[in-house]
Amino acid sequence: MKIGIPKEIKNNESRVGMTPAGVYELTKYGHTVYIQSTAGEGSGFFDNDYKKAGALILDTIGQVYGISEMIVKVKEPTEVEYALVQPQQIVFTYFHFASSEALTEAMIKSKSICIAYETVEDDEGTLPLLTPMSEVAGRMAIQQGAKYLEKPVKGRGVLLGGVPGVAPGRVLVLGAGIVGIQAAKMAAGLGAHVTILDINMKRLRYVNDVMPPHVVTEFSNEFNIRKHIKTHDLIIGGVLLKGAKAPNLITKDMLKEMRPGTVIVDVAVDQGGCVETTKPTTHEDPIYIIDDVVHYCVANMPGAVPHTSTMALTNVTLPYVIKLANLGWQKATAKDACLQKGLNIVEGEIVYDEIKEAFQI
Ligand SMILES: NC(=O)c1ccc[n+]([C@@H]2O[C@H](COP(=O)([O-])OP(=O)(O)OC[C@H]3O[C@@H](n4cnc5c(N)ncnc54)[C@H](O)[C@@H]3O)[C@@H](O)[C@H]2O)c1
Repeated sequence: MKIGIPKEIKNNESRVGMTPAGVYELTKYGHTVYIQSTAGEGSGFFDNDYKKAGALILDTIGQVYGISEMIVKVKEPTEVEYALVQPQQIVFTYFHFASSEALTEAMIKSKSICIAYETVEDDEGTLPLLTPMSEVAGRMAIQQGAKYLEKPVKGRGVLLGGVPGVAPGRVLVLGAGIVGIQAAKMAAGLGAHVTILDINMKRLRYVNDVMPPHVVTEFSNEFNIRKHIKTHDLIIGGVLLKGAKAPNLITKDMLKEMRPGTVIVDVAVDQGGCVETTKPTTHEDPIYIIDDVVHYCVANMPGAVPHTSTMALTNVTLPYVIKLANLGWQKATAKDACLQKGLNIVEGEIVYDEIKEAFQI
């Protein structure tokens, strides 16, 4: 199969759909990989790395879309790309169709086969192509939180690990899912005291089994949250109710009960946030302060570490890319129930119920 990797043109997107390692694997199976010149630079992969792995470099995005039977990328096609998508072409990427009617209409019109990373779903109902980005964001949350706890950026002036003779900082993690567990692990590794809250006892039992004793689990309810916000330095929001807006576990009035310089990193900002005062920020201007509490609410945290994020993403997408290339989309999706859930739009027809519901089709 001819596989094309265009350069991402969405604002501030430095990830790329395939690493040189992916090119190497696909060429081993006899496939041809075309990559747009400089597509990998933002992630630290250069044209020469791709050439050595067996890719052919093309100058323009139009050439990549024009020649490829399958496009593998990261973000949904932008408006400029709508007309470049070809009939019967497989497009394998994050789409998030329900949030854009224009994109949905354009892909229906293109008669392409749109397979969305975010709806590939395994037997347990987890989303394997979203997990790595939650892992990145969870780990990064502590890195960012530790930075904003410093006094020059209006934090409490607390070193998370403490020092001999001085107690460590205290981190409160809301949600013991992918984000929460990765955050707890990083904070614990720095030596901080960690309290992690969830409403799912299975998750809390798991955390209790695998984490060191300075990671303490408690059931999530308003009483416990009100108690802990007074004594914790850094609060991580990692709560998710599938398909719904995140619940406001921290309300505006609670900010007054926190100590000045407390930092909130609300990772759940992309689902509305679990703090009432959360509003989305960007890497250029990541924080704001309300009632002396520092809020970090960047909606695309993994975008700041594209080298790691690209590798984390392509590690999990590559096996599906290989399957699609080896078998073609019909056989690959017929054989693999997880991949089949990724089918969103096929040759002009929406085949995923939630998208139909979103636009009342
Ligand atoms: N900002 C970013 O860049 C970024 C990146 C990746 C993920 N995210 C977001 O982070 C959020 C968490 O993602 P995840 O992959 O960890 O989800 P997940 O489903 O693995 O975990 C969510 C956890 O929240 C728990 N929960 C639900 N209600 C709760 C409550 N009232 N109190 C405490 N816990 C509660 C659930 O039981 C679950 O364990 C999502 O909104 C996701 O979209 C943001």
